[in-house]
Amino acid sequence: MIVAIDGPAGAGKSTLSRRLAERLGFRFLDTGAMYRAVALAAMRRQVDPSDAEAIGRVAAETTITFSEERVFLNGEDVTEEIRTPAVTTAIRYAADNPDVRRRLVEEQRHIGEGGNLVTEGRDQGTVAFPDAACKIFLTASPEERARRRVEDLRNRGQSASFEEILAEQTERDRRDQTRPVGRLIKAEDAVELCTDGMTPEEVVSRMEQIVQAAQEKQQAKR
Ligand code: DC
Repeated sequence: MIVAIDGPAGAGKSTLSRRLAERLGFRFLDTGAMYRAVALAAMRRQVDPSDAEAIGRVAAETTITFSEERVFLNGEDVTEEIRTPAVTTAIRYAADNPDVRRRLVEEQRHIGEGGNLVTEGRDQGTVAFPDAACKIFLTASPEERARRRVEDLRNRGQSASFEEILAEQTERDRRDQTRPVGRLIKAEDAVELCTDGMTPEEVVSRMEQIVQAAQEKQQAKR
């Protein structure tokens, strides 16, 4: 079974989806990490960001693998480096590139062929796995997402202004929702889950219930 989880930045998708996968005993795929890895590879090669063809070539020549919770770019552990602000800023050159998206979606489907998988991103229920048996659209209000992010940064000893984080997030939302290919949109058959006011534990339990309901529906069809 494929569990496709999409939603905006800061909704807690990665952490919660990973926990859900652990509970279900499913594999987990963080597709944002794939776009981050391509952006990092392009930065390292000093590719001109406006050269879409060259960025497509970078994706073709890049091998991204996962092991436990680590991400590897051509065999090198880049788990921390793909989360730096420089990569986050450059990501749009990879995420807006149709050639990159085509290759990464192909790779995601290939991983999906291995069976039971929780996969999260922006286009998992719409483009990568339109036939997924279970789709969840995970959201939270912009203010709640920004508040959580500020708290997260402060817990890590970094200073953060709520207004600045909210403004950055609004810009990311706009980009995610207006990208010509693979834009963030709720699949018609996805269950929307707004996590405002819920604890992480409550969200994972609710997600588990949604998966169980989808499993029962799937079994009833057989
Ligand atoms: O989930 P994240 O913040 O790590 O994702 C990084 C970026 O990649 C984000 O700006 C949107 C993009 N992305 C995408 O376009 N499609 C996906 N399936 C996953 C992420």
